[in-house]
Amino acid sequence: MTEDFYPRILVFCCNWCSYAGADLAGVSRIQYPATGRIIRGMCSGRVDPTLIADAFIYGADGFLILGCHFGDCHYIDGNYKAQEKIDMAHEALVYAGLNPDRLEFNQASAAEGQRFADLNTEFHERIQKLGPLGSADKYPLPELTERLKIAQKALAGPKLRWVVGKKSVFTNGGNKYGEVFTQHEINRTLSGIIIDEMATHSIIAALEKKPAAVKDLAKELEIPPPDTLKYVLALNRRGFVEMDGVEGTSPMYKYKGEQS
Ligand code: FES
Repeated sequence: MTEDFYPRILVFCCNWCSYAGADLAGVSRIQYPATGRIIRGMCSGRVDPTLIADAFIYGADGFLILGCHFGDCHYIDGNYKAQEKIDMAHEALVYAGLNPDRLEFNQASAAEGQRFADLNTEFHERIQKLGPLGSADKYPLPELTERLKIAQKALAGPKLRWVVGKKSVFTNGGNKYGEVFTQHEINRTLSGIIIDEMATHSIIAALEKKPAAVKDLAKELEIPPPDTLKYVLALNRRGFVEMDGVEGTSPMYKYKGEQS
């Protein structure tokens, strides 16, 4: 990528550690690239997965989220929650086509002005090498943006939010039957839900544009036909889509709109 590419980078800093680290870097006159726009929030645990999607939908080339070191969060486990939510958002956005290097979660304390500057410099250099959003990703713009919007809908849904919210409960204390899950089992469950939710919202987005048969949806969205049928029938049962006649021998489905 050319040297004159000036990346648009968002840097979230928690109030108590990384923002104070940014302050220290400033008063210590430590030099680092000025491409990061700092957003100050109380805790990295406040970064909602849908806002991470929003950053890229609105054209950010990179998003660096900086919190306290583990064990130092002023809200006890806010940065552990942040890690879980950011991991989930990362997986969904990469599944949608985002280059994995465009999103990073890291930590810097109030005493680490140099570390703050180094993290910003490394991230800036990485994004500068990748180039603008859509240039080193699985899809170019505007197709990537459309797919990121679908990922955002999946991340806003109750299924993923519920599982990620219960992740530490299920891996430590277990569910109400006392079954404790391994990280691997929970991560596999989350990955499965991400794939299901992405497929479901892709189908809804396609049917919002025009009615379609299952075989056409499967081809357009590159989802295996048996899975497409399963998702369409599930949407039909939940009242989101309905049959809209038959073309040839294929039932056509159309989107009915949000159900209360
Ligand atoms: S207060 Fe810094 S990560 Fe929670």
